Amino acid sequence: MRAFASTVALWGLTLVASAAKCSAESCPVANTSIIAHDGTPVGTEEVHDGVNLYITGEKSDTAVLYLTDVFGIQLAQNKLLADSFGRAGFLTVAPDMFNGTPAPGDINVPGFNTTAFVNAHGPNVTDPIVATAIKYLRETVGVKKIAVTGYCFGGRYAFRFVAPGKGADVAFAAHPSLLTDDEILAIAGPASVAAAETDSAMPPERRHQIEALLLNTTLPYSVALYSGTSHGFGVRANVSDPEQKYGKESAFFDAVRWFTTWA
Ligand SMILES: *[C@@H]1O[C@H](CO)[C@@H](O)[C@H](O)[C@H]1NC(C)=O
Ligand SMILES: *[C@@H]1O[C@H](CO)[C@@H](O)[C@H](O)[C@H]1NC(C)=O
Ligand SMILES: *[C@@H]1O[C@H](CO)[C@@H](O)[C@H](O)[C@H]1NC(C)=O
Ligand SMILES: *[C@@H]1O[C@H](CO)[C@@H](O)[C@H](O)[C@H]1NC(C)=O
Ligand SMILES: *[C@@H]1O[C@H](CO)[C@@H](O)[C@H](O)[C@H]1NC(C)=O
Repeated sequence: MRAFASTVALWGLTLVASAAKCSAESCPVANTSIIAHDGTPVGTEEVHDGVNLYITGEKSDTAVLYLTDVFGIQLAQNKLLADSFGRAGFLTVAPDMFNGTPAPGDINVPGFNTTAFVNAHGPNVTDPIVATAIKYLRETVGVKKIAVTGYCFGGRYAFRFVAPGKGADVAFAAHPSLLTDDEILAIAGPASVAAAETDSAMPPERRHQIEALLLNTTLPYSVALYSGTSHGFGVRANVSDPEQKYGKESAFFDAVRWFTTWA
């Protein structure tokens, strides 16, 4: 009975007006058909100011800036999730965060030095790439608002770019890694976090600290934890597993509702 009631409530809540293509009646944000877990990406790549941008969706007042995990826009699942934001009504742009050289498919492959990779892609290198994507959206496209979504490596930059004057208005991050206390306390817009049950980069103690820091920002915030998930689930869930599929899809809908509500 309780489960039934909350399902009804969920559908009621998700019948919100979304940007651009969706109207309240025609495109409830919990329509799982808009999420592609596999298949062929539908966007295009264009170079602007020396940065390769994956661009998908039609022009909208609020754009989504999609910041990838270490696998970059080269990973099909990143392009496909960006496309899903496109189908949710947002022009979506994902910069090539690693300038053509993301981490290999499996970061545990012998010979891949994760420390060296992270050191080579610090904020001094990554901030200018994200800033170029923001400049493209603000000046070339002329969007009014930017909603930033980030995954793992990119989650930290979602926080960095919702700081004052950095260009984003609202942020969502799934299983962010390397995120510092200062970066959380510096935000100037609402922030939402999707957390995995198993995540060495964000174990329960760190999650609780992040909650306390978000509370101290006095801005709207949200932290959601999904059972049966592990680090990376927001993009690379095993969707044959019902818990992981639920986690990935719900994290996506959380982001869409967060952006529709606060951007
Ligand atoms: C769900 O999304 C699909 C794909 O965008 C669309 O064809 C369909 O009409 C949507 N269904 C509803 C009920 O909005
Ligand atoms: C990995 O890179 C770090 C930083 O460059 C270096 O200190 C370390 O020795 C490297 N580890 C291996 C196994 O090469
Ligand atoms: C970025 O900072 C790292 C660590 O401080 C440094 O090794 C690297 O040379 C810097 N890169 C650029 C492009 O400034
Ligand atoms: C939040 O603010 C309170 C009151 O200033 C402070 O005592 C607490 O340490 C802060 N928490 C964090 C995690 O910064
Ligand atoms: C994905 O999940 C299914 C269902 O739980 C399981 O049978 C399969 O082994 C999983 N695949 C991988 C690669 O873990």
